[in-house]
This record gives sequence, C-alpha cells and structure tokens, in this order.
Amino acid sequence: MSVTNDIERVLVSEEEIDGRISELSNEISQDYVDAESLLIVSILRGAFIFTADLSRKLTVRHSVDFIALASYQKSTSSGEVRMISDLRQSIEGRHVLIVEDIVDSGMTLEYMSNLLRERKPLSVKTCVMVAKEGVDVNSSGIGVDYLGFVLPDVWVVGYGLDYDDQYRTLPYIAELKSRIYQ
Ligand code: IMP
Ligand code: MG
Repeated sequence: MSVTNDIERVLVSEEEIDGRISELSNEISQDYVDAESLLIVSILRGAFIFTADLSRKLTVRHSVDFIALASYQKSTSSGEVRMISDLRQSIEGRHVLIVEDIVDSGMTLEYMSNLLRERKPLSVKTCVMVAKEGVDVNSSGIGVDYLGFVLPDVWVVGYGLDYDDQYRTLPYIAELKSRIYQ
C-alpha cells in the first residue's frame, strides 16, 4: 500500500518549500557575503534534503559537511543525544551554519551548538526548516537564526523528516495520521 495512505494532510507544499528556501538562501547569502570560510554543518539524517536544496541556492562561497546524531526512537524522545559520526574537518576559524530539520524540545540543537562552540569557530548560527508551534526559538539554549516554517505540534514527515525511517522522501511536509505514531 502506498505511503500516502498514512498522511493526514499536507502542511507545506513542494512549491511553498521551494519559495521559502529561496528566501532563506537569499538572506543567508547576504549575511555571509564577506565571510571567507562558511561551513554548512548538516545534521543527518533529517536535514539532508533541506541541506541539498538550500546549499545549492546559496550564492556565497561555502562547503558542506555532515554530522550524524540520534535522539529519537520512533516518536518518543530518548532524552539524550548521541553522536553517530563526526565532521570530517576542523571548524576552527570558520563561520559555521548548522542546518537542522526540525526543533521540538531544542535538545538536539543545544547539544550541537555547545559541541561546535568548543571547537573555536569564528561564529555559529543555525538554520532550521521547521519549528513546532509553542517552541521558543529565541531562547538562549535554542537560538534559531533562520527558520523555514512554524507548524502545529503534530508528528510531521516528508522532505527529510521521518517516522521510523519512513516517509523521508515525500516531496512535501505533512502531518502523519496519529494512528501510525500513537
Ligand atoms: P529535539 O531535540 O526535541 O528538538 O528534537 C529534534 C529531533 O527530533 C529532530 O532532529 C528530528 O529528528 C526529531 N523530530 C522531532 N519532532 C519530529 C517530527 O514531528 N517529525 C520527525 N522528526 C521529528
Ligand atoms: Mg534530526
């Protein structure tokens, strides 16, 4: 049976995603126009599609590296973040932009920011595709600098976001039927 049977409703269409990513990449390109060494740090696996589309629209010189983290077992937070694999390169003296799929409790982003700040980068900022409604994205622990969309506090899938490793490659962002994740 097709995975689309598990979708409750589409929250952000392919066209809306594309439009918002153009806006974000313009903003980022302007902000980093004078930066010599921008490094995009993409958090696997959820951010891989967002990163691919965003980074290809940037007009500033940059490179992309990946860090793999895990925190969730299906839809329940395990309450801790684990690193599965680290960056390949040193970030010392570079401007770092963390790219993440979604912020919920903010634990993942806080862990990442703290980890990378210890490595003496020139700066660390964050770009997040989705924040769940009610999350304070300006709190000191989270600090989202560039945000794609604020969505209702339901389980969302597609455009990189998964449930139990499924639905990642749907081209839109959608609410999963609650019977799947409850
Ligand atoms: P946080 O650490 O609680 O902010 O959770 C962030 C991580 O949880 C994200 O990187 C996602 O991998 C995962 N996550 C949280 N909510 C959702 C969701 O609605 N759909 C898919 N993944 C989610
Ligand atoms: Mg993630």
